[in-house]
Amino acid sequence: MSGVVIIGAQWGDEGKGKIVDLFTERADVVVRFGGGPNAGHTLVVGGEKLVVRLTPSGVLRPSSRCVMAQGMVVDPWVLVAEIDMLEARGVRTAGRLFLSDRAHLVLPYHIAVDGLREERALFGSKIGTTKRGIGPCYEDKAARRGVRAGDLRDMGRVEDLVRGAIAAWEPVLRALGGEPPKVADVMERVALIAERVTPMLAETSRMIDAALRKNERVLFEGAQGTLLDLDHGTYPFVTSSTAVAAGACVGSGIGPTRVGRVLGVTKGYATRVGEGPFPTELHDALGERIRNQGGEFGSVTGRPRRTGWLDLPALRYAARVNGLDSLAVTKLDVLSGIEEIQVCTAYDTPSGRTDDLPLDALSSAKPVYEAVEGWPGSIRAAKTMEELPAAARAYLARIEAAVGVPIDLVSVGPDREATIVVREVFV
Ligand code: GDP
Ligand code: IMO
Ligand code: MG
Repeated sequence: MSGVVIIGAQWGDEGKGKIVDLFTERADVVVRFGGGPNAGHTLVVGGEKLVVRLTPSGVLRPSSRCVMAQGMVVDPWVLVAEIDMLEARGVRTAGRLFLSDRAHLVLPYHIAVDGLREERALFGSKIGTTKRGIGPCYEDKAARRGVRAGDLRDMGRVEDLVRGAIAAWEPVLRALGGEPPKVADVMERVALIAERVTPMLAETSRMIDAALRKNERVLFEGAQGTLLDLDHGTYPFVTSSTAVAAGACVGSGIGPTRVGRVLGVTKGYATRVGEGPFPTELHDALGERIRNQGGEFGSVTGRPRRTGWLDLPALRYAARVNGLDSLAVTKLDVLSGIEEIQVCTAYDTPSGRTDDLPLDALSSAKPVYEAVEGWPGSIRAAKTMEELPAAARAYLARIEAAVGVPIDLVSVGPDREATIVVREVFV
């Protein structure tokens, strides 16, 4: 059996959590391979809502093992709090939640730098980050001075690494008007959680490989989205990790031949949180209506998400850079009652009209829209494509035709049950 990768095809928050949770009914292992507590994946079961930031969305199914692989940056205090929250809800994690020895730790100075940079916006423009220390932590990783989860087995080593990192960040913190933290204070905090984290440590690449060899079903859960990817997104308004499907290989230590299928998740419209170009953004009452109907407020920061029409060139781009086999279209119910839906089919640029996403000229490119008929009334009870109004089916068909990728799943509400499964991902 080869693995299935599920990734965000837009700017994050596409509903990956719901889709992963749904499919983990049939998964043995669920792997997060990138990002950190900047992610917020919402799971709704029986009307009850829960947001996970570090643990894979398979955590609610007692039969699945959950892996936080080495491409992740893990804030150990957030992790411990998340585990406590899950245990308080009766979700057992001991013996089924594993953390790669090589995942990097987000430490207090990363969060301090991230926050101050956003407030001062001294070095270039503001990104609108989640201020969770993600960028500075990946910077330490690339600078080869990061602290990895496995280092927690040796507190002397952690102390040396923390001392070195604080020395490196000190001039930056001071230039931003901040103070470097004291090594002893950081170590005191680390000591409080080290014993909670070390029992979870594992050589996760080997673990995932063994599962695949045993023909177990392995799901790789993306975080963020294609257009937030460090290499393939709207740079510099991106996150600092690999959010595209290939990140599943690099971030978890499996080869590309082990990936059998890639599913991209997109909303029926578009959202973005933070700064950066968003050509199909709506600044009017309709945008506000979509925000309210769709509950488009950040699951990590509570920030209102920017809303807009679906961008087909962007989706085609996502299909290309991720090698999408299929699509899951979420939040179709949010569009119910809008008389005329617009969809961006192309862009006008100084050099003419193009069907491609002009990734490096997005702020000046003008979206070309096509009007699509809307549908009245709720579609939340639909269980099959046939139960959807004809106009909703036509909208989905328009997306499929434009992207050239089949739609395997349509989500019509936040709950597990509100889903139309056209084709199972594990085939
Ligand atoms: P993720 O980061 O991709 O996992 O997505 P988030 O959890 O940050 O944001 C998606 C939001 O949409 C959450 O509040 C979900 O409960 C909600 N959601 C997911 N699918 C649907 C859907 O089909 N309809 C509606 N109305 N809400 C949905
Ligand atoms: P999930 O997994 C939406 C955005 C931030 C900001 C940029 C960089 O829930 O889809 P960072 O804190 O990563 O340095 O911020 O990326 N961002 C997200 N937007 N969903 C996410 O995760 C995001 N993770 C980061 O808003 O624009
Ligand atoms: Mg989210």
